[in-house]
Amino acid sequence: MIQIHQGIDIVDITKFKKVASRNKQFVPEIFTQREQEYCLSRKDPYVHFAGRFAAKEACMKALGWGLSVTGSDHMLRDIEIDQQPSGQPLLFLNGWALKIGQKKRIYQHTVSISHSGHAAVAMVILLGTKDKKK
Ligand SMILES: CC(C)(COP(=O)(O)OP(=O)(O)OC[C@H]1O[C@@H](n2cnc3c(N)ncnc32)[C@H](O)[C@@H]1OP(=O)(O)O)[C@@H](O)C(=O)NCCC(=O)NCCS
Repeated sequence: MIQIHQGIDIVDITKFKKVASRNKQFVPEIFTQREQEYCLSRKDPYVHFAGRFAAKEACMKALGWGLSVTGSDHMLRDIEIDQQPSGQPLLFLNGWALKIGQKKRIYQHTVSISHSGHAAVAMVILLGTKDKKK
């Protein structure tokens, strides 16, 4: 039986930029090398960092985890957003996120990102399977 897990998140880009630029560890703690390279190659990197941050939080929600879990910040690195040559974002689950994904028997996932003005939004959909109730 198919089970759909969905998560959405919105990030205020201006606030995000303030927090990220105050703490030098913020970007390397949360974003993988590939994500940093992509964002830093764009004209306004924080717009893209904020979109990826929203995608990571949306994925946490879809996986059934909240960011309130103590020490969960570094866990965001295990959720990675890459992109196709067309620009379409791609989601990768690694480490703990992959483990939870395997528990939920996730076999397909999608991510979508948008930004406008001060806001960056992202949505993640995970498709998993669950046993039929007997
Ligand atoms: C994809 C598209 C709809 C983005 O819309 P937009 O209003 O300009 O921008 P938004 O802020 O809503 O969305 C930007 C996000 O869309 C996503 N995106 C980019 N290209 C995409 C695509 N082909 N398919 C799905 N999502 C895409 C990215 O995640 C991007 O954010 P990021 O760079 O931080 O990862 C628009 O660029 C478009 O129509 N593209 C058509 C394909 C195209 O012309 N590609 C050019 C490269 S060949």
